[in-house]
Amino acid sequence: MTPENRFEFYTQMLTEYFDCVITPIEGFHKEINDAMIYSLTAGGKRIRPMLCLEFCRALGGDVGAAMPFAAALEMIHTSSLIHDDLPCMDDDDLRRGKPTNHKVFGEAMAVLAGDALILKAFEYMTRSAEKIPAEHVVKAVRVLAEAVGSEGMVGGQVIDLKSEGIKIPIEKLDKLHKMKTGAMIKASVQLGCIAAGVTEGPLYDAATEYSGHIGLGFQIKDDILDVEGNTEKLGKAVGRDEKSNKSTYVTFYGVNGAKKKLVEVTNKAKTSLKDIPDNDFLMYLTDFLLNRDH
Ligand code: IPE
Ligand code: IPE
Ligand code: MG
Ligand code: MG
Ligand code: MG
Repeated sequence: MTPENRFEFYTQMLTEYFDCVITPIEGFHKEINDAMIYSLTAGGKRIRPMLCLEFCRALGGDVGAAMPFAAALEMIHTSSLIHDDLPCMDDDDLRRGKPTNHKVFGEAMAVLAGDALILKAFEYMTRSAEKIPAEHVVKAVRVLAEAVGSEGMVGGQVIDLKSEGIKIPIEKLDKLHKMKTGAMIKASVQLGCIAAGVTEGPLYDAATEYSGHIGLGFQIKDDILDVEGNTEKLGKAVGRDEKSNKSTYVTFYGVNGAKKKLVEVTNKAKTSLKDIPDNDFLMYLTDFLLNRDH
């Protein structure tokens, strides 16, 4: 399979899976269910679940067995976007090419839809125990919970909000990026390894090192796209970081400096892949993340 075809294959597989996991319902909780489906199926690149599935495959695991992990990652990522767009956070109106969740369902429902997606994710994690040994599922649940919580993504969002309008040192900026975005990307790779039965050792460590580099790079690229990107392609508004006086790699280094940093971490990421077997698609994905325009 060519890398392009594999990208398409995973995207299709995930779309079909999401269509099965949360289906439209009638009755008293129709509204919350609709709000969850609205953002989950709005699109998105599906990078986190794709990383999970591909690491599982490359390390010899069963991609089908990893699907609940992959779905959980995308559910939590989607919840983080719903909450990130709220008026009390980044106050954005457009996401994945559609009006943001709170614009359609109202703020209270958007908060609850995000909460419910996080919990649905953990429900799915435990469903994976049908095909993955229970002790590996327990480890995966812990890895994911740590990545999402106050020492991971949520903690990063706190630093992000508290850094608006002030100049922070580079160490803090690195920490902000690694926590708010890098932590979930690291967990995505680690869950793929765990689904393949690789829960520690040199391959797990190499995969973790790789994920650290692309996780930092992912937010650097996001910061660059906020300045140079195109709303139609991105499906979200641009120029938002400057408007909110965010602390970003672009404000710290300038666009060119941020691009240089991005190339540096991309090269480090590729080096970390050298001992990962059958890594062609991962090399392709790493370049995609460097060059993406959405
Ligand atoms: C956007 O994530 C938010 C960040 C963590 C930078 P993505 O760029 O992965 O958004 P989708 O999932 O493709 O919409
Ligand atoms: C969001 O970072 C990171 C999350 C945890 C959701 P941003 O606020 O930069 O993401 P966008 O640019 O709105 O997608
Ligand atoms: Mg934000
Ligand atoms: Mg935002
Ligand atoms: Mg951004």
